[in-house]
Amino acid sequence: MKVPWAEPVLDEQEINAVVETMRSGWVGPGPNVKQFEQRLAEYVGVAHAVAVSSDTAALDTALKALGVGKDDEVILPAMSYIAGAFAVAYQGARAVLADIDPRTYCIDPADVERRITPRTRAIVAVDYAGQVADYDALMEIARRHNLFVVENAAQSLGGSWRGQQAGAFGHVAVTDFHTAKLITTVDGGMLFTNDAEVARRARIVRSQGEDPTQKYLHTLVGNNYKMNDIQAAIGLVQLRRLPELHAGRVRVAERYNRLLADLADRIRLPYVQPDAVHGWFSYAILVENRDEVQRQLKEQGVDTRASWAIPVYKQPAFAASFPGDTRYPVADFVCARVLNIPLFPTMAEAQQDYVVECLRQAVAAAPPVAALSR
Ligand SMILES: Cc1ncc(COP(=O)(O)O)c(C=O)c1O
Repeated sequence: MKVPWAEPVLDEQEINAVVETMRSGWVGPGPNVKQFEQRLAEYVGVAHAVAVSSDTAALDTALKALGVGKDDEVILPAMSYIAGAFAVAYQGARAVLADIDPRTYCIDPADVERRITPRTRAIVAVDYAGQVADYDALMEIARRHNLFVVENAAQSLGGSWRGQQAGAFGHVAVTDFHTAKLITTVDGGMLFTNDAEVARRARIVRSQGEDPTQKYLHTLVGNNYKMNDIQAAIGLVQLRRLPELHAGRVRVAERYNRLLADLADRIRLPYVQPDAVHGWFSYAILVENRDEVQRQLKEQGVDTRASWAIPVYKQPAFAASFPGDTRYPVADFVCARVLNIPLFPTMAEAQQDYVVECLRQAVAAAPPVAALSR
């Protein structure tokens, strides 16, 4: 049996929406994009949504809209997808890393506070695997130090914390519609904010920095980050299906919890914080001998990810930025052991049983998961 790590759920509804858009005679940014922005803003519970071409574009747009510039510092989790650190580099700013929380694997607010300097302008948190980071603590730190908070909800759309939807935290939030994500537009992203001025600047940045009232007048340094109406047509169908897609993920995750419970000494299962609805983008476990376990699963047709095995400060692209800096004990511990096993809304029980059986065999030879000592 072959089990993919993730699989988009696309059927006749999305196909019909694409065909209808192509037949309409308008495929560029237009009414579908506007509607997708409005519907998603309503769903998340924010005043403004700005559609862009990817989450990387959304992160870049967010930092530009907030005015992050050269010589500023932006704090990110040490275990994070590279796009956040790249977005900081695009501003000529400096990425500063903070360690992660040992239970949620999201950025650790206490460590953020230790990394603040007079140059710090923003904190970009990531809702790891679908769990919302501790924005109460992050916003409180930001208030005291006059910083911006950006929520990267690439993995958490559909989830919530204390009654607030993922995508509604921080001064600005962003999310992702890549094919593997909670909902997809094939590629795409969205920026959310309650701040009208930030939204206005974001719309300018995504369209070559062009003044909305005068063609070829460029008031900000921007990029071509526009979403088109074909992407938005897919997004509108996917958004209607989001509750059903999320419920499918919850079903698979809760079944993993039951099927893997007896392996608790060999497999650290995901922690769900109180008052949270987990987005369940991925089911992240910790195992010893992770690379060997991953190799064995691959041999048996089970596709997995280790996101993210290489912490940002060890990435060759940032080799010169973090010389000898190894003060991230939790991130190092998790990066060395994390394994994201297959999870997607339409996963069949037989596929899941097979993954669990292969995993059971693979961890049989592995030692118990080490305790994290800081
Ligand atoms: C947390 C996070 N940030 C950013 C990205 C980048 O998204 P995109 O591929 O849409 O640029 C991803 C995609 O995997 C992600 O998971």
